[in-house]
Order: sequence, then structure tokens, then C-alpha cells
Amino acid sequence: MILITGANGQLGHDFQMIFKEKKINFIATDSKELDITNIERVREFIKNKNINLIINCAAYNNVDKAEEEKEICYKLNAYAPRDLALIAKEIGADYITYSTDFVFDGRKGLPYVEEDAVSPLSIYSEAKAEGEKLVLATYDKSFVIRTSWVFGIANNNFNKQVINWSKSKDILGIVDDQVSVPTYSYDLALYSLKLIETKKYGLYHLSNNGVASKYDQAKYVLNSIGWKGTLNIAKSSDFVLPAKRAEYSKLDSSKLEAVIGEKIPSWESGIDRFLNEMRKKGEL
Ligand SMILES: NC(=O)c1ccc[n+]([C@@H]2O[C@H](COP(=O)([O-])OP(=O)(O)OC[C@H]3O[C@@H](n4cnc5c(N)ncnc54)[C@H](OP(=O)(O)O)[C@@H]3O)[C@@H](O)[C@H]2O)c1
Repeated sequence: MILITGANGQLGHDFQMIFKEKKINFIATDSKELDITNIERVREFIKNKNINLIINCAAYNNVDKAEEEKEICYKLNAYAPRDLALIAKEIGADYITYSTDFVFDGRKGLPYVEEDAVSPLSIYSEAKAEGEKLVLATYDKSFVIRTSWVFGIANNNFNKQVINWSKSKDILGIVDDQVSVPTYSYDLALYSLKLIETKKYGLYHLSNNGVASKYDQAKYVLNSIGWKGTLNIAKSSDFVLPAKRAEYSKLDSSKLEAVIGEKIPSWESGIDRFLNEMRKKGEL
């Protein structure tokens, strides 16, 4: 049996969708039913459920708020992922959890590979980097997946923000000095599952293919929905935000692609499918 934590988030929702499509049984839990920061509760919950895979989709994702909520951010992004690894080890289950491109400072100026040294610029990124380290040191049947700029149907994200802004504004300014890869949560779930099947545990990068600035991403979304307004280039220095962000944090996913023997689709394809999903749900 598969256990999903944080199952109502973007990634958790799409894991559920794929399992339903493939008629695979799973237990989906949200923060109310299973708070991952309460290790004893998790231990009790999984008893007699024959769990052979734990998928941790729960996280603290408010990068700016984390600057003032360090404790809860570390609990969710570092210590709870480690505790889940410990529990997976106790029951002999495979374990997968997620980290971020933000563990890098962007100075490399080239796509980041798994061997590159981390250099977090914010509390959120520090906590994620700590979580990676703790999980990999705790349990050798763990997958730690770094991903970037996730968007999906289930929660709020940059694509949805852009669509909302387009409804009330004729002019938008979006930064072109933050560069990475937008990643469709459906692809993140699907290619994670392909990786899990290989049993080749460890640290991996998993983003859609290609590279984009926030400006490129917004432009693609706005063109796709037929917005008639004016899109201007802005700079990060135009907006004062509490957390520092890297200028360039594109992840190179070729290690994962080599292991599963498949190419991951482009971010543009991900956005096309995401917009179709929104249309089908009447949200666009
Ligand atoms: N979003 C991005 O751009 C991005 C970028 C890089 C990496 N990632 C990583 O990718 C993974 C998936 O992200 P996502 O975008 O799918 O996240 P998401 O949509 O924000 O979902 C996170 C989920 O975690 C749940 N959660 C919060 N506190 C919890 C707790 N104490 N116990 C159990 N569940 C709890 C939330 O549930 P409630 O609403 O019930 O609290 C929420 O449904 C995360 O590890 C994230 O850090 C995301």
C-alpha cells in the first residue's frame, strides 16, 4: 500500500490522479488527518496498513514568510522529512521526498547537476538543504528529488497568478532576471513514479525540459490565453521581497532521464496540458 502525505497540494493531487488512472491503491492524507511533524502520530497511523511506499508531498512552501517562521519551516522541510525516512526504514518501505532548485545560489550560470555544492540564500532553502542531507543520511532506500517552479491544478501557483492579473490589468511587468524551469506537477509525479520503479535510490533533479525566466513563463501563458495587454520586462530589484532568490537555478535532469531511459517533456508542453486541465474544469 502507498501512503501519500500532503496529498491535497499540487503534487499530492496529481499522484492521486495517476494512481486512480492506473487503478493502484493508495492512502491519501492531508495535514488534518496526518500532520507529518508529529512522528508518533505517523507511526501509529501506518500500523497494520502494509505500507511499502511513502510519498511525502507535504512541505512549507512560503519562501518569503519562512524568513520569519524559521522554526516551522525547519520542522516541515527538514525534520519531518527525516522522521518519515526513519519510519520508512522501520517498516522497510521505499521513501520519496522533495527539495528545490533554491538550494543553489545561481552563481554557476549553467544547469545544476546533483554533484554541485549547495549554497542556500534563504531560510526556506537552508531548511530544504538540511532536509536532503538528513534524509539521505537516515535511510538508503530514499529518493530525494529536487524540482523547480511547480504548477498544477490543485493549488495556487505563478501560472494561476498571471491568469488572475490578466483579468484586471492591461499592463504587466514580470522579471526576466530569475531563470529556472517551470515544472508541471503531473509530470513531476509521473516521472517520480518511473524513477521509483527502478529502485535506484538517491538524489535526483526532476524538472520539465528547457529553461525560462519568469517573464518567458508569463509570456507563454498570456499568449496561450489570448491576452491583449502589454507585457513589460521588470527586474527583481523592482520588487522588495524578504527572501533572496537565485538569478539562475535551472536543474539538469539528465541523470534521472538516463536512469529511466526517457526524456521529460518541455515546460511549454506542461503549460499547454495545465491550461487544458483548467479549461476542462471551467477555471479558464
Ligand atoms: N511549489 C513550488 O514551486 C516548488 C518548487 C520547488 C520544490 N517544491 C517542492 O515540491 C513538493 C511539492 O510541492 P507542491 O507545490 O505540491 O506543494 P503545495 O501545493 O504547497 O502542497 C503542500 C501540502 O503540504 C501540506 N502540509 C502542510 N503542512 C503539513 C503538515 N504539517 N502535515 C501534512 N501536510 C502538510 C499542505 O496541506 P494543508 O493545505 O492541509 O496544510 C499542502 O497540501 C514540496 O516538497 C515542495 O517544497 C515546490
